[in-house]
Amino acid sequence: MKLLIAGGQVVTAEGSLDADVLVDEGRIAWVGHVPGAETDADRVIDARGKLVMPGAVDMHTHLEAPHNEIPDAPDDALTCDDYHDGSIAAVVGGTTTLVDFATQGPGVGLIASLDECRAKLAARPLATDIGLHMIVADLDVPDAEAELAALCDQGVTSYKLFMAYKESPLMVDDDTLFRVAQVAAANDAVVVVHAESGDAINVLQRQALQAGDTSAIWHARTRPPATEAEAINRAVELCRVAGAALYVMHVSCAEAVDVIERAKSRGARVRAETCTHYLYVDESWLERSADEACQYVFTPPPRSEQDREALWDALARGVLDVVSTDHCPYTLEQKRDGAHSFMATPNGVPGVENRVEVMFELGVRSGRLSASRLVELLCSAPARLYGMYPRKGTLSPGADGDVVVFDPARERTLSAATQISNSDYCVFEGMRVAGSVDTVVVAGRVVVEDRRHVAEPGLGSFLARQRSAQAF
Ligand code: URP
Ligand code: ZN
Repeated sequence: MKLLIAGGQVVTAEGSLDADVLVDEGRIAWVGHVPGAETDADRVIDARGKLVMPGAVDMHTHLEAPHNEIPDAPDDALTCDDYHDGSIAAVVGGTTTLVDFATQGPGVGLIASLDECRAKLAARPLATDIGLHMIVADLDVPDAEAELAALCDQGVTSYKLFMAYKESPLMVDDDTLFRVAQVAAANDAVVVVHAESGDAINVLQRQALQAGDTSAIWHARTRPPATEAEAINRAVELCRVAGAALYVMHVSCAEAVDVIERAKSRGARVRAETCTHYLYVDESWLERSADEACQYVFTPPPRSEQDREALWDALARGVLDVVSTDHCPYTLEQKRDGAHSFMATPNGVPGVENRVEVMFELGVRSGRLSASRLVELLCSAPARLYGMYPRKGTLSPGADGDVVVFDPARERTLSAATQISNSDYCVFEGMRVAGSVDTVVVAGRVVVEDRRHVAEPGLGSFLARQRSAQAF
């Protein structure tokens, strides 16, 4: 099957050019102009006036995931998109590769935890490829270090550690963080952190509860920016001693950006992301009515307008490397069930289908980022840092035929009413975007037209990733 995407402006991280793209047997065959290619193709997509970009890569999603931060949540309390539904939401929004999480259960071996997650993944027809990070919570299990190393042979080449959520079994101490970093260093794997000072936050939370301060704004007040900056700094230094590559998830504030910039300037092997919602929502949203404010309880919390500007600046200057979604979707009912106290509200927001359009609107159309920088942040950098490049994240010959045709003239309004995710609210509700996803191709097949998923799900599968610490 030969698919020709003709006449568009091809945008990669390296620049843009007017060219056709031929996808043959599921892979990019060439980018350029070949006379007669149209007659030779089985199907031609007219991309005149449109941008042709690599399918985006989101390496931070939580599909059918438990409530990490609420220790007494029932086992069946999960985020509201399973792997199947979440992958469809992703692909409709122009994201063709996901990396989600396998979670180590308390006292459960790492390989057994991965097997359990892969069995769930295999049971769902997927619209995108999905890789996995391993959330490591407990090294007091037999052969922990050997199994950590063995995960890399199965294509799970990054270890996620929670430095927060003190009351859940997931939070690790420095001993665990450092031992995991040593294994990562020895195996060219990547240490990934949720960096917040879990102990200090826990004290602040207990004090807030004692004072009767339970409204959503206290979610932010008990997690001040310095707790994020402190934990990032600690992770940077521990990984530096261990010789490990470090990736910091969901950077939310100027203080954290400063720590990362200083670490990079000293040669530390650290890379970092922010997420779409930090570039839009601010802390004042947590002061709305309880039923509304609970929708914006995510971690780290939304910050100030100055913090938001610092994030945009850091993206433009290369201090931050990636924009992910941290798609952690709940229904309004799930959120509102916990709205009586910020400690009972499940943390997280939907967003996997909004990232490409929101970043084009707020980043490219506003003049903050070039289109090539956008592709670097959403496609190439995450693919490179997580062992998927150049198979994913670019349009070079031999890459997977995952392509987004983006129409910069097509306007639409983002809304829960037209959302694919099972979440029934949208963080970007009412945002008018001039520029939206037109057609999406996965493995050489047209899977999205007119915001409709038109393919049988099942084109995606578990994605084994290469070791990637050398990219840091
Ligand atoms: O609020 C968030 N980020 N929820 C997802 C779980 C996590 O902490 O990454
Ligand atoms: Zn997350």
